[in-house]
Amino acid sequence: MDYKIEEIASILIQQIKGYEPELEVETESRGTVTYVGDGIARARLEGVMAGELLEFPGGVYGMALNLEEDSVGAAILGPYFHIKEGDEVKRTFRIMEVPSGEALIGRVVNPVGLPLDGKGPVNPSAYRPIEHPAPGVVQRRPVHVPLQTGIKAIDSMIPIGRGQRELIIGDRQTGKTALVVDTIINQKGQDVICIYVAIGQKASTVAGVVQKLEETGAMEYTTVVAANAGEPAPLLYIAPYAGCAMGEYFMYEQHRDVLLVYDDLSKHAVAYRELSLLLRRPPGREAYPGDIFYLHSRLLERAACLHESLGGGTLTALPIIETQAGDVAAYIPTNVISITDGQIYLESDLFYAGQRPAINVGLSVSRVGGAAQLAAMKQVAGHLRLDLAQYQELAAFAQFGTDLDKATQAKLTQGARMMELLKQGQYRPMPVEEQIAVIYAGVNRHLDDIPVERVGAFEEGYLRFLHSSYPQVLKNIRERKALDEETQALLDKSIAEFKKSFAQPDDEVQ
Ligand SMILES: Nc1ncnc2c1ncn2[C@@H]1O[C@H](COP(=O)(O)OP(=O)(O)OP(=O)(O)O)[C@@H](O)[C@H]1O
Ligand SMILES: [Mg+2]
Repeated sequence: MDYKIEEIASILIQQIKGYEPELEVETESRGTVTYVGDGIARARLEGVMAGELLEFPGGVYGMALNLEEDSVGAAILGPYFHIKEGDEVKRTFRIMEVPSGEALIGRVVNPVGLPLDGKGPVNPSAYRPIEHPAPGVVQRRPVHVPLQTGIKAIDSMIPIGRGQRELIIGDRQTGKTALVVDTIINQKGQDVICIYVAIGQKASTVAGVVQKLEETGAMEYTTVVAANAGEPAPLLYIAPYAGCAMGEYFMYEQHRDVLLVYDDLSKHAVAYRELSLLLRRPPGREAYPGDIFYLHSRLLERAACLHESLGGGTLTALPIIETQAGDVAAYIPTNVISITDGQIYLESDLFYAGQRPAINVGLSVSRVGGAAQLAAMKQVAGHLRLDLAQYQELAAFAQFGTDLDKATQAKLTQGARMMELLKQGQYRPMPVEEQIAVIYAGVNRHLDDIPVERVGAFEEGYLRFLHSSYPQVLKNIRERKALDEETQALLDKSIAEFKKSFAQPDDEVQ
């Protein structure tokens, strides 16, 4: 046979040109369920992303958590009794998302965004992934605007800045929820969107909070995300991330200020422990899985005060942790203490002794909030925290009935009145200018000659008097934000004047 080299070459070249690879580019998007139970499913499925939504029969979704070589462990986010071994499961190629945007303001929803308030469907304008990377260092700026809680003891001694993370920690029934609810109520007119995430609480408790927020008009700028005690662990687990995603929308897209409350992360950790053990992850310290620290740090790192170059906007986080018998050294409390920028420590002893809010001044701190505190507040309350911590030590010592020198006695007299002054009823947040006026009276020893039990009455009467006779004092503080000599003189004058009319208990006629 006679072959020509050129001919062979041209045939080969043509064949190569015409070659089309027949590669299987699409990975399998369907698989089968191999195990189901306790809200957990295992499925044979490949190429799944961490946190991807999987679709089970009956339109029930699950979230992929464990990615193993030949199977996937998923948490089922809904009723799962109809799902059986051998059922088909589909990939959605979507990471878990929640509805976000204005439509959620004023609503009570569950962690996947379904309404719980009977006010009809939520029609969201946007969706956001529940997991989102936290902004880096260069995308942030230090906190510089105060988040006024309206609570005297906090705004004066443990100030919180917008974008900060401040932990609220204490035993059960010490007024933790009361603090955050008052803070939300105090945001009225402050242009702060509030998101209250209730994790593992009784439905009746959450209903009580919602009712209070409605009564005070706070629902107008608040979203409540509730995963109550009866719900399956996966829902409790995603609740804080879902709330955070809803808040991020307002920070990133609208550059607004957001306040997020997680009530509480102890129950969140327990839900995660349950979920992890069901997924057969090895337990570690106190039977929590090894990544429990990462669980809370990646959530709280998302709180931020965004840099101007990104348009600004802040997300303040107030996580709550419940301790057992005051043990702040347990695993979860120490984790969250180390993640946050400070803690407000509430104590049962103080609570039962009538000191409410029951804040332990010595153990509470806000490491960054001072930078955002109003100058006028800094002027009057700069030394208050140390003075009161000192007072508490002295008071314990003085109980032994030792002879006390004049200076110590004076400290005790003033300290007792300051402690009394810092008491505050529930649902009664106080505007910062009023706080400054009454704390000014206390630290400048104008209350020393008033009996301790009359301090509360003095405070109330004096504020009423200020509003009616010296409204310019409050206006000055509000507008100038610092105490100038003129305002200080007016404060002194008004206090002296009011004291004259402030009846002593014996000759009180009302
Ligand atoms: N400042 C306050 N003045 C008077 N009562 C208060 C004050 N703060 C809280 N309380 C009352 O104390 C009780 C416990 O408060 P709260 O529910 O806020 O505590 P908690 O620490 O969140 O409790 P739990 O551990 O059950 O969640 C409530 O009955 C509440 O009304
Ligand atoms: Mg509570």
